[in-house]
Amino acid sequence: MNNHHHLYLLSFIILPSLDGAFLIDNLLIGMTGSIGVISYSEFIFLLRKNIAKNINVIMSKNATKFITPFSIRVLSGNFVFTDTFDESEKIFVPHLELVRKSDLFLIMPATANIIGKLANGICDDLISTCALSAKVPVVLIPNMNSDMWFSKANQRNIALNKELGYHIIEPKEVGMSHGGAVIDTFSKNQSEIPISTITYEEIVAFIKELLTTKKEQSDLHIAEKHD
Ligand SMILES: Cc1cc2nc3c(=O)[nH]c(=O)nc-3n(C[C@H](O)[C@H](O)[C@H](O)COP(=O)(O)O)c2cc1C
Repeated sequence: MNNHHHLYLLSFIILPSLDGAFLIDNLLIGMTGSIGVISYSEFIFLLRKNIAKNINVIMSKNATKFITPFSIRVLSGNFVFTDTFDESEKIFVPHLELVRKSDLFLIMPATANIIGKLANGICDDLISTCALSAKVPVVLIPNMNSDMWFSKANQRNIALNKELGYHIIEPKEVGMSHGGAVIDTFSKNQSEIPISTITYEEIVAFIKELLTTKKEQSDLHIAEKHD
């Protein structure tokens, strides 16, 4: 984050925007234990400002090792859930209530671990349990090093997730280096620590297209019913 971003962030926290029209009423976000948590935290603030009226965030236990739930609470404006048995003043059974009130569930960053769990219907934490009960679109943004991304198990799990109807914003290959493919979710200088470079604009474009297609489909169903 550069200085400009810091100032922008600060002005937002002090003077919240009261803009009316949002694309999404309730956005549910899951964050898992990837170093990408650091970049995606800033996107939460941008989504709150421009795209979603209300944002609820769930962090996996491992995500909280990279950044605190308190920071995400400040950025999202709501209590951050980290456990299936958490409750807030308004929400008592989070895996039911959080997904039922949401319009979209965005898991960013998504670790190889959560991708594997979703492929197999495992529900051993709040994020995976919410994903299995979700009737709204679930979008995953994988973030991991190229060895993990290209492993046979991960590639199989990605294919299974697509079959199951999960939406995936896939990393793009940008060249070859160190004998393997370089993926642009990683830092450009190929340090050991992968940093997401999927941009905020790419995420918004993906969500907009997804919701527009979904709306066109439901309009079609309504039109068919009236024929
Ligand atoms: C410094 C560090 C960075 C990590 N970055 C990633 C990552 O980018 N992607 C990933 O899939 N796992 C990453 N891991 C491993 C996950 O944290 C680990 O697999 C964990 O069990 C994931 O748990 P969760 O999916 O419940 O959050 C990282 C671990 C460490 C210590």
